[in-house]
Amino acid sequence: MIKRKLVVFTGAGISAESGLKTFRDADGLWEGYDVTEVATPEAWIRNPELVQRFYNERRRQVLAASPNNAHLAIAALQQDFDVEIITQNIDDLHERAGSKKVTHLHGIITYAQSSKNPNLIYPINGDEINMDEVCELGSPLRPHVVWFGEAVPMIEIAAKICAKADVFVLIGSSLAVYPAAGLVHYVRSKTPKFIIDPKIPDIGGLSNVTKISKSATEGVKDLLNYLKI
Ligand code: APR
Repeated sequence: MIKRKLVVFTGAGISAESGLKTFRDADGLWEGYDVTEVATPEAWIRNPELVQRFYNERRRQVLAASPNNAHLAIAALQQDFDVEIITQNIDDLHERAGSKKVTHLHGIITYAQSSKNPNLIYPINGDEINMDEVCELGSPLRPHVVWFGEAVPMIEIAAKICAKADVFVLIGSSLAVYPAAGLVHYVRSKTPKFIIDPKIPDIGGLSNVTKISKSATEGVKDLLNYLKI
């Protein structure tokens, strides 16, 4: 039997209960830094050491964190659905929970990329990229993440995935950042949609929406009931 396609779109909120801070809960500062200091191409040119140090610290936190019951519940749904995850998160908690199909719109912190050619990507062994590490072209390695102002190469693929959803779930995103936030409008109007978030974001004129105003780990329990799992 062909499994129905379940598309799960996640943001920082799904990793909050794993101890990783969200962006907007930190009133505009990310771990005490203004994003323009550490998460833009200009920041990398101005002070690459600070940017590298910032992401090395983020990476240490990610490696020390564990998937929570929301990550695990989504991975378990692969038994009953063809699950595709689209995430804005740069952590690897979905993968570590056992999810197989994960599209990272904003990159993933466990990989490095050439600062000269973004298509040259390297897994990071350990938790640090050091400034003396270079790619095969000899340019310094940077985190494989999408900085503010950079292109989101996976956005077209993500839109096609959303358009094929038989069931769509949004967990833990404020839908504050485009183009990612626009993906919800690629989901067919008749497709049932579920939103899990203590503060349900504004979702415009979407139809067939069930709002679950709970945390990710609590909300997934309701979701399983709705999906009759
Ligand atoms: N469970 C579920 N949702 C939660 C929880 C939780 N325990 N805690 C917080 N949330 C929700 C918040 O209510 C908010 O709607 O998670 C959302 C977090 O929103 P943001 O901090 O804006 O994170 P996100 O939407 O992923 O940000 C998008 O912005 O900073 C850029 O590139 C960065 O990928 C990031 C993008």
